[in-house]
Formats: sequence, structure tokens, C-alpha cells
Amino acid sequence: MELKREAISFIDFEPEAADFLSEVLDGLTRPQKSLPCKFFYDSRGAALFDEICRLPEYYPTRAEHSIIVENGAEIAALAGPSAAVIEFGSGSGLKTRALLEALETPSAYIAIDIARDALLASTRALARERPDLEVIAVCADYGAGLDRLPEIKGAAVRRLGLFLGSTIGNFEPDEAIGFLRTARALLGPGGALLIGADLWKQREVLQAAYDDSRGVTAAFNMNLLRRINRELGGNFNLGAFRHEARCVEDTRRIEMHLVSAVRQQAVIAGHRFFFGIGETIHTENSHKYTVEGFHAMARMAGFAPRQTWLDRAERFSLHYLDAA
Ligand code: AVI
Repeated sequence: MELKREAISFIDFEPEAADFLSEVLDGLTRPQKSLPCKFFYDSRGAALFDEICRLPEYYPTRAEHSIIVENGAEIAALAGPSAAVIEFGSGSGLKTRALLEALETPSAYIAIDIARDALLASTRALARERPDLEVIAVCADYGAGLDRLPEIKGAAVRRLGLFLGSTIGNFEPDEAIGFLRTARALLGPGGALLIGADLWKQREVLQAAYDDSRGVTAAFNMNLLRRINRELGGNFNLGAFRHEARCVEDTRRIEMHLVSAVRQQAVIAGHRFFFGIGETIHTENSHKYTVEGFHAMARMAGFAPRQTWLDRAERFSLHYLDAA
């Protein structure tokens, strides 16, 4: 379905509610209960994530923004003029704006995001600020729906993919490689991907970033149960779960869990799930990398790392990968 609204084009591949229900039921039936982190982002979840990005403890957003601002000219020189920018995820748009400012006459901006309201708000705001730019919003699950995108690729211009915020870290390593392979095919020969990757660091810094003192990350995590209650008619007792962030050295990742504080049960669409005291629902992985490890993963997906920048505190990395 394609609609022309205001100054943006909107293409809607939003997953059906049935996908949400079936993925929730599937995740809660596993021995280690789990829920896909892509479902965090209803409009409340997207607003909470924006708030997380402004928290003093959550350094990735500021670190990545500073890398883009400080190295904008170099990034623009690598990308060249008239690139079509395809962003996987539309975030709060601040970093995107900084990048679009730095690039030489980008020909179009295409944002792909599952969070429909946030996507429409950010692309409409961008289109108002940049009337010179063709802005296209695509509501889709970029973890699974990328194969449907070539039909909206448009003219054969050079494509610069953007995958910011270390969102790649939310995939399992094999899924990350799969995503990178599909992105590479979408970007085509001569295309490139600018991708942020958070770096492995001291446990205390990571722990604080995912369990902040104001409890915003806890509310973000808990919002998933609230969403299930609202959209799927679930009856989770929100007061009987608590947020936990685990820094796991073996897999170099932060795991987010919702821990059941009591023995309890919850019913969703007629399906009953039991929880023991301390039993958890695993809601998110956030993998952290070394520069070498990230380059190896990019090469496995067929990219050629061209340039890497770090922020001044060396907490975060931004990579320019050629779709060789
Ligand atoms: C979107 N993603 C990269 C964030 C992260 O850091 O993994 C989501 C998030 N989870 C908790 N805080 C932020």
C-alpha cells in the first residue's frame, strides 16, 4: 500500500497484530522464556527509548553523535555527492540530521522502521526542515522484511545505508551477519553502510547504561508486558515483575530480563503461562564489540571495512563499510 501524505511518501509493511501474538506465544513457550526486543517500540516504548538516549548513564547516543559531528567532512568525502540515504531505524533523528547536513546534496532519504508513529513523526519533521530532500518512510520490520524493499529502491543512484545506535548488537551474531548480507544486497555494488557498534568495556559502565538510576530503562523493559496486556488482552501483573540487566562476559553482551518476583501465572489470548519465583523472560541482547571483531563480522557478510572512527573516550565505534 502506498499513500502520499504531506511532504513524505509512506509505504506500509507494518506487521499484522497476529505476528505479535504468535511471536509472543512462541517466546513464552520456550524453556527460557523470551520476547523479541523489536516489540519494545510501540509509541510509549519509542518515547521511553528517546528518554534513555538522553540519560547521563546511556553514553552510546552522545558518543555516536559526537563521532558524526567531528568526522562529518570525512564521511561526506567517502560517500560522495548525491547519495540516496537508506536508514534502518529512524531513531530520534538527531544523528541523522547531523549526517544529512554533512553529506553533499543527498538525493533522497529513506527511513525503514517498525515503530510507525515515531517513523511518521520523525520523517515528517525532517521533510519540513529539508524541503530540498525527497523523504520516504517505510514501516517494516527490517530484521525480516528487507527482502520486500527492493521494489521501492527507485532510481539506480549510489546508496548509503545507515544503521546507527549499535542496533546491530540487538541481533544474535548469526542474525547480525544475515542482516548485513541482506543490507549489502540492497545497497548494491558501489553502495556503502555507515554503522555504529558499541564497544565492550568495564562492567560498571555497561551495567549503569542498562539499569539507570531513574528507572527509565526498567520502565522501557516493563512496557513490553504493558503492551501485551493492552494489545493482546493479556493479564500480566506488572507489579510482580522487575527489570534486570545482566552483563555477560562470555558472550560479551548485556541481557535484559523481566524477573518474576512471585509464583504466578498470566493468560494471553486463552493461553496460560506459569512463572516460578525468580524465573525470567529474556527480552533483549545488546552485544558489544571490539573493532577487530566487528571488522571480521562485516567481512563475513561481504563488506570491506574502509574507515573506522571512535569517540574521544573510545567507548563507541562508527564504521564505513564498502558493499564490495
Ligand atoms: C536500540 N538498541 C540499540 C538499544 C541498546 O542499547 O541495545 C536498546 C536499549 N535497551 C536498553 N537501553 C537501550
